[in-house]
Amino acid sequence: MSAQPVNVDFDPGLDPALDPDVTPPPTTASTGTPVLQARGLVKRYGQVTALDGADFELYPGEILAVIGDNGAGKSTLIKALSGAIVPDEGEILLDGQPVKFRSPLDARRLGIETVYQDLAVAPALDIAENLFLGREIRRPGPFGSVFRMVDKGRMLREAGGHMADLKIGIRSMRQAVETLSGGQRQGVAVARSAAFARHVVIMDEPTAALGVKESGMVLDLIRQVRDRGLPVILISHNMPHVFDVADRVHIQRLGRRIAVVEPRNFSMSDAVAIMTGAMAGERVARN
Ligand SMILES: Nc1ncnc2c1ncn2[C@@H]1O[C@H](COP(=O)(O)OP(=O)(O)O)[C@@H](O)[C@H]1O
Ligand SMILES: [Mg+2]
Repeated sequence: MSAQPVNVDFDPGLDPALDPDVTPPPTTASTGTPVLQARGLVKRYGQVTALDGADFELYPGEILAVIGDNGAGKSTLIKALSGAIVPDEGEILLDGQPVKFRSPLDARRLGIETVYQDLAVAPALDIAENLFLGREIRRPGPFGSVFRMVDKGRMLREAGGHMADLKIGIRSMRQAVETLSGGQRQGVAVARSAAFARHVVIMDEPTAALGVKESGMVLDLIRQVRDRGLPVILISHNMPHVFDVADRVHIQRLGRRIAVVEPRNFSMSDAVAIMTGAMAGERVARN
């Protein structure tokens, strides 16, 4: 390891063996009030403890990656933050205010949009219909309010605007999503979340099903979403992708966050070593 100080935000208190004199150096990005924060989340499934006192912070303007071995509690953490499950213990704060999500709709209403792993698009519908799925724009007047008729023209125009915002080069919004490539489909899902999210975009393995070129395109989209002002939570197994795009990396292990590192001054192999338990967060914090 290099001699320069390693920027590790190690969670004190999780490891009873940790020397109390070790003060974690603050990371440069972690200033101000977190947009989204969790403290001490616990979630049990019978005998299994999926979350065991997990903390979490997402700061304005950052891409935060969440990594961890299978079973570390990444999905459960994300489900708690997006309202898909209700934790048994702990609290979630949005802009510093405690919130309780009883359903994904609660989280969506507060501006948290999630792009799920399994390409959450409806293949038979066109791009505009996918973008506005569940949020269709009604026609003005009684046609819309009484007969629930959708304003297709406006949806097509707005869909084109959203796709252009993210520089997704698809010409016709009337094209069925099943005619698109995997990367373009994921682009539609990303555009939808970026269009409606007011606070946070969560992406669960957005590049898992994609080839090299398409993954690059989705990573670019993620950067553009951040650069337009929305912080992004990215769950990924792909270390090169994580280290390419993330500003900070939350490392989850055995149901807890054990370290937060910055790719700028931390190696991928050390992050993997912490993730698998081969390197203790304590040793890293002392360096
Ligand atoms: N619905 C569930 N029922 C029972 N056990 C679950 C459920 N969801 C997750 N678990 C368990 O909780 C632990 C954490 O799972 P998960 O959050 O999916 O981890 P990760 O996404 O990091 O692989 C695992 O041991 C998993 O088997
Ligand atoms: Mg998972």
